[in-house]
Amino acid sequence: MLPADPAGLAAAAALLRQGQLVAFPTETVYGLGADALCPEAVAAIFAAKGRPAEDPLIVHVAELAALPRVVAMVPPLAQQIGAALWPGPLTLILPRGPQVPLAVTAGRETVAVRVPDHPLARALITATGRPLAAPSANRFGHTSPTTAAHVLADLDGRIAAVIDGGATQLGLESSVLDLTTSPPTLLRPGGVSLEQLRALLGEVALAPRQSSAAGMASPGLLERHYAPESSLWLVVGPADPALAWLRSRTEQELAAGRRVGLLLCDEDAQALAHLAADCERLGSSSDLAQIARQLYAALRALDARQPDLILARDLGCNGLARAISDRLTRAAAGRVVHLKDTETRR
Ligand code: TXA
Ligand code: MG
Repeated sequence: MLPADPAGLAAAAALLRQGQLVAFPTETVYGLGADALCPEAVAAIFAAKGRPAEDPLIVHVAELAALPRVVAMVPPLAQQIGAALWPGPLTLILPRGPQVPLAVTAGRETVAVRVPDHPLARALITATGRPLAAPSANRFGHTSPTTAAHVLADLDGRIAAVIDGGATQLGLESSVLDLTTSPPTLLRPGGVSLEQLRALLGEVALAPRQSSAAGMASPGLLERHYAPESSLWLVVGPADPALAWLRSRTEQELAAGRRVGLLLCDEDAQALAHLAADCERLGSSSDLAQIARQLYAALRALDARQPDLILARDLGCNGLARAISDRLTRAAAGRVVHLKDTETRR
């Protein structure tokens, strides 16, 4: 564990220049960094995470002006979006620059790039003098880390170091926007909302929910991702019936002698406080930023206590709720209960 000070940064940069792996905080989640221009270092990321080679990595640069180092060309739209939203939780898919090894892009002619909004992350890229390839710093299929301790829980012994920058501010990964399609396609909802992107760009298409690997725009979209060990059930629908469903399902499971974990906003937790379930509170449903920040840590904490199942309620798709819903849906891995036809929400 390296401290978040000049000596820690210098040590981390030296390790990265030697081709080693260093985890570092960004404003979204911790990333597992390697020199993006060194194929061996990039290969080590896949090995440490147990990540399939078909799943491409995000390249992190310190500023918009560094984009030409990693892309084949900077379309005016990328310039415009970068100027408006970088540094920030937005990843752009652009034509791959010849300097970027195919190991980074999983053989694709496109590359994912972002400028993280965390001073430590940018200082590390600058000190290393290279763009950094960095996926979330978790074992493949696990929940993304929002603290240095989460990183070590997954990767201790497999990486050279982690810089401890405390808990990350946003708590959810970046939005991934494909600029090689017209209109641009949102491949993964994240810290920058669809509403923000549409206000800036006009039309933005949504990637269809992936049910097979065939023709997938973004391989990472298919994985059973962000998943806890315990089975998570997600109920989707209007608040009142969804809460009623949570109550009766919890009662049923408790009556059958099972240990129930609840992952709930404060209002729901309050309403179900009389039940003998193990509840992690995420914050008020009126404060989505707080819920996003707490989500992964709460999921990890609940999961560590090994309930027989975890129940959660979907909070819709406005603003950050879309990204929260996306991660909960993946964590549920198909165990999603729709109380009402909600097809208009996607
Ligand atoms: O917030 C974040 O984005 C964090 C921090 C560390 O920056 N990183 C992160 O990386 O979440 P990762 O590897 O866990 O997710 C990257 C996503 C995957 O779904 C991957 O498939 C997609 O971006 N992706 C990467 N390169 C791509 C490409 N060329 N075309 C389409 N999708 C791509
Ligand atoms: Mg990840």
